[in-house]
Amino acid sequence: MTKRGSAPVRIGATWMKALAMRKPGEARVETVTDPVAAHGDVLLKVRRIGLCGSDLNSFRGRNPMVSYPRIPGHEVAGTIVEASALHPHLTVGMDVTLSPYTECGKCASCLRGRSNACQFNETLGVQRDGALAEYIAVPGGKIYTANLSLKDLCLVEPLTVGFHAVARGRVAAGDTVAIIGCGGVGLGAVAASGFRGARTIGVDVDDAKLHLARRAGAAEVIHSGREDLHARLQELTGGRGPDAIIEAIGLPQTFRAAVEEVAFTGRVVYIGYAKEPVAYETRLFVQKELDILGSRNALPEDFRQVIAMLEAERFPVEEAVSHTVSLDEAPAALNAWSANPAAFSKIMVDLG
Ligand SMILES: NC(=O)c1ccc[n+]([C@@H]2O[C@H](COP(=O)([O-])OP(=O)(O)OC[C@H]3O[C@@H](n4cnc5c(N)ncnc54)[C@H](O)[C@@H]3O)[C@@H](O)[C@H]2O)c1
Ligand SMILES: [Zn+2]
Ligand SMILES: [Zn+2]
Repeated sequence: MTKRGSAPVRIGATWMKALAMRKPGEARVETVTDPVAAHGDVLLKVRRIGLCGSDLNSFRGRNPMVSYPRIPGHEVAGTIVEASALHPHLTVGMDVTLSPYTECGKCASCLRGRSNACQFNETLGVQRDGALAEYIAVPGGKIYTANLSLKDLCLVEPLTVGFHAVARGRVAAGDTVAIIGCGGVGLGAVAASGFRGARTIGVDVDDAKLHLARRAGAAEVIHSGREDLHARLQELTGGRGPDAIIEAIGLPQTFRAAVEEVAFTGRVVYIGYAKEPVAYETRLFVQKELDILGSRNALPEDFRQVIAMLEAERFPVEEAVSHTVSLDEAPAALNAWSANPAAFSKIMVDLG
């Protein structure tokens, strides 16, 4: 519920500040009702929010799952200001992060213990209002504690998506793994693959992304705009192709390249959402006897793995965040990002 004309005040009162997308292309800081912690919820003072490609899509009106007005924000670092008797390990003053997904508990995915792919999932900031506000109430079971800075905590969720894909691909030490697309999502897969001890190859068409991929754990990188992807992968794998390929872009040609370049009996994991139908030479599925897997969102164990990696200081956190703005500056930052996406990698909103 949005109401204007009241001065924003602190917790205990009725109103707080939040960034609301009123309609595609229009975001502004508004005064909204304070969240109320339900039974089992903890109340967080939101400290930092990361924005990713899906927030940009929402802002541009290109995410069919988003209706307006909508408060974005699903990459969250916050401090507990109100605890829950149901979750005694979560105490006031702790800096934490959270999982922004829901699970229905009844669909086929939930019944199989794969709630990350819940048929009825509602992600914060997508199907329901998100965390780009001064406070948010969150079920205690969705909270993750960690020995990390606010900036690190805010990077946990975006990295989990790539960690989940690497888990789906059963990546292990001794494997050679190529990640096609080293953007926000692919970079997590690069880090996860390196963290598991696999020899990791980052593929992109942007030198800055490839530099970051190296810093995140890629032993080799391929600029597929300047270099021949097939020739380079063959050369790096003794002519066999990578044991696993993870696609993190969503283009027909990279969907196909994953199947064409992967080794016989290899694994292909798709994270990218293709925006159009993809035509395949399906003979390769059979002839190579491939495992072709989709990967969506992340499970609690993926959150715990990312936290372990960040606690081990195995990720270039400072380099991965390109811009930090205040809540009041966030609408202008969204406009600038939308006008020139290539100039930004990760925007974080510092709420103090
Ligand atoms: N499965 C999931 O749970 C999930 C979650 C979030 C996002 N996604 C999807 O993942 C995909 C990637 O999202 P993102 O936020 O990382 O996007 P992004 O724009 O940050 O990254 C895409 C990367 O691909 C590179 N690229 C573009 N064209 C290329 C090409 N032809 N060859 C090689 N590299 C190329 C870009 O330079 C960029 O680094 C999208 O399709 C998005 O919808 C899936
Ligand atoms: Zn995100
Ligand atoms: Zn479900």
